[in-house]
This record gives sequence, C-alpha cells and structure tokens, in this order.
Amino acid sequence: MKRQKGWTVTFQPDGRTAVVTHGTSLLEASRKAGVSITTRCGGKAGCLMCKVKVTEEYTSGLRPPGDAEQRKLGGLLDEGIRLACQAAVWNDLSVYTPEDPLKAAVRRKLEAARRGEEDELW
Ligand code: FES
Repeated sequence: MKRQKGWTVTFQPDGRTAVVTHGTSLLEASRKAGVSITTRCGGKAGCLMCKVKVTEEYTSGLRPPGDAEQRKLGGLLDEGIRLACQAAVWNDLSVYTPEDPLKAAVRRKLEAARRGEEDELW
C-alpha cells in the first residue's frame, strides 16, 4: 500500500497541484503549486482578496471555518466560498481560484475574436 505523505490540493481551472501537510493553509498550498492568489493583508483575513470556491464534494477537505472566516464571509460560506489564507487542508481536495484579471481580459478578447466580434476592452 502506498504511504500517504500529505494531502493533494488541485487548483482549478489550471489543474495545478501541490502536496501539503495536514493543516497547511490553501494560500500556502497555492504558492507551492505555483498558483497566484492576490492578497493585500498578508493572510490575516483582512482584505478578502483570497476567496476561493470549494464544491460541496470537497467541503470535508478543509477544516471548518473559524471565527474570523465566519465573520468575514457570512452567507458566502453557504456558497462554498472560503478564504485561502484561513482555510486549512484536512484532506485531498479541489478548489477553484478566481481568474487573474489580465488572463480574463485576454480570454475575453480571444473568445470575441473567435466569434468575429469586436471587443470593447481593446
Ligand atoms: S489574504 Fe487577505 S483575507 Fe486572505
């Protein structure tokens, strides 16, 4: 039997992965996977810029939200939104990260070009 050395976190939509120890924050895991999550507060639950989405099937992959995360996210927790800086990995899981604004602009431009439309952003 293969010995488990940590939990595998998969970051969507890119599919990049990181193997991390129990209790590692998603923010640390994202850095290990080479996934960029923008922050301003240094991981102190202050800026809300590190929001990620966890689908219901992977909810048990994270430690339940603590006081700071509950206070900051409120009802967003019910939609699967978590703060990457506060959410600790407790099992294998997959999370969705927000798309980088520059990548999003390029993607929209390419999609518009494929449809033969002008894109107002350029
Ligand atoms: S890094 Fe600022 S809230 Fe998570």
